[in-house]
Amino acid sequence: MINNKEEYPEIIYLDETVSTNSCLRELLRNRRLPEGSAVVAAFQSGGRGQAGNSWESARGENLLFSIVLYPTHILAGQQFVISQIASLAVKETLAEYTADISIKWPNDIYWKDRKISGMLIENDLAGQTIHCTIIGIGINLNQALFESNAPNPVSLCQITRKKYDRRDVLVRFLHIFNAYYLLVLQEKFGEIKTRYMEALYRREGFHLFSDEAGSFKARIYDIEPTGHLALELEEGAIRRYAFKEIEWL
Ligand code: BTN
Repeated sequence: MINNKEEYPEIIYLDETVSTNSCLRELLRNRRLPEGSAVVAAFQSGGRGQAGNSWESARGENLLFSIVLYPTHILAGQQFVISQIASLAVKETLAEYTADISIKWPNDIYWKDRKISGMLIENDLAGQTIHCTIIGIGINLNQALFESNAPNPVSLCQITRKKYDRRDVLVRFLHIFNAYYLLVLQEKFGEIKTRYMEALYRREGFHLFSDEAGSFKARIYDIEPTGHLALELEEGAIRRYAFKEIEWL
């Protein structure tokens, strides 16, 4: 049970679907699945990534799933907290298997300088609040070779030379995620933010970034409740960015 309602989440395992996000959305059209229910697929024929990209995942090798939440008390302007808890839960799950896992703002999960997991979060808003959110997560577990031109993909197996059971990893993730979702229900946003900041990739020091005006050195100054990244330049100026307005070099 993910909250205090008397209903248990359903976990639906599929051999193949177009996209677990799309499949879950379709199921929700017909009935209201209990909060925390998930669709898991061994293969996606049209896995979707951020910004209209596709998500590469060899058949049966990786963990591909989507979860539904109904965080109806969360204001639209606070929706980034869902991204924060999902990122923290993936980060902490993977940290049980290997070191050097971090969250690359806003919600990529990195091992050193390589991407091991990504997520696609789709929120349905009802006025000022969130009616329903679908959190789609891909975690590279056992894939030995990546063929797409995705930048720097890596799998857990490439790191540790071991194979992983997709269900085991999912169970660990759900356990950690449920604990984080409780923090959201208790509105402990400050605690979530502190943990998110501590988990960030390149949290300390100045690094090279580029925006539409060119490249520059800056350090992470803050992540705002809206999810905007605030950077501090070497001369002390602060610049704020939405996702896709800035790149790390
Ligand atoms: C990204 O980093 O670009 C986001 C990738 C999200 C991939 C996952 S896999 C499960 C779920 N279903 C999808 O179609 N996409 C997400």
